Amino acid sequence: MSGYIHGFGADEEQRLWDQAAVLADAVFADLPLPERGRLLELGCGVGAQLAQIHHRRPRLDLLGVELSPSHAAAARRRVGSTAGVLRADATRLPLAADSVDAAVTIWVLEHVPDPAAVLAEAVRVVRPGGVLVCTEVDNTTFAFHPELPSVTRWWDRFCRVQADGGGDPYVGRRLGGLVTDAGAELRHRHDVAVVTSAEEPHRRHVLIEYVTDLLRSGARSMIAAGAAEQHELDELESDLARAARDPGVEWEYHAVQVVADVTR
Ligand SMILES: C[S@@+](CC[C@H](N)C(=O)[O-])C[C@H]1O[C@@H](n2cnc3c(N)ncnc32)[C@H](O)[C@@H]1O
Repeated sequence: MSGYIHGFGADEEQRLWDQAAVLADAVFADLPLPERGRLLELGCGVGAQLAQIHHRRPRLDLLGVELSPSHAAAARRRVGSTAGVLRADATRLPLAADSVDAAVTIWVLEHVPDPAAVLAEAVRVVRPGGVLVCTEVDNTTFAFHPELPSVTRWWDRFCRVQADGGGDPYVGRRLGGLVTDAGAELRHRHDVAVVTSAEEPHRRHVLIEYVTDLLRSGARSMIAAGAAEQHELDELESDLARAARDPGVEWEYHAVQVVADVTR
């Protein structure tokens, strides 16, 4: 694994759980997941997406693979008997070829030095006729309107520290090509829009709280890397608290989702 910018621990466990709930409607809208069969999530973290998928497709047999022992343990604890969780590297899955009906990745490929290797494994284990769904970041789309300079500065460095650690905060831009190169057939690629609106004040508040947590989650790694200082985190937090109270400030982010068929 590359240096995981968010770190590990109770705060990150809760952040991942909350993130999945906050973004679920945007991520899972109209997603062609099967109703039955076996679905694998590569890089399942603390099991937050497995829980969301179980809620939407209770008949699926769910399996998550996670590299970090602490996240895998948290996932087992949180999902209980609703999903299996294996501690393993997604670039070397301990699963037979053609052994699952669907595979998903979500917010994972940005953290791995070799996303092509993860997708090659996903395609290997999905049976012919099965589906691969990837939802990944494109951090160039992150924007506050009007711009908040303390946030822009922080985000630029957040992305730089992630890239310096071996990840790719813009992996969504090449997601279609990566999936095709892995041997799957692209069905469609679309924008997962996460956009605040003054007309939905509660949702706007939830999303600004979410993005504040996301930005804060990089602080320890960024400060350790010498890319940020505590007073900048303080400034960021106070600007975001002000933004949360000001209905004239909007935030938008667009992730990339691809749906691909495994046809070999
Ligand atoms: C941002 S979290 C997302 C977790 C989950 N997909 C979600 O959306 O809640 C990324 C996860 O990928 C895991 N990860 C990174 N590299 C991995 C690898 N090579 N194999 C399996 N998991 C990996 C990290 O440990 C982390 O738990």
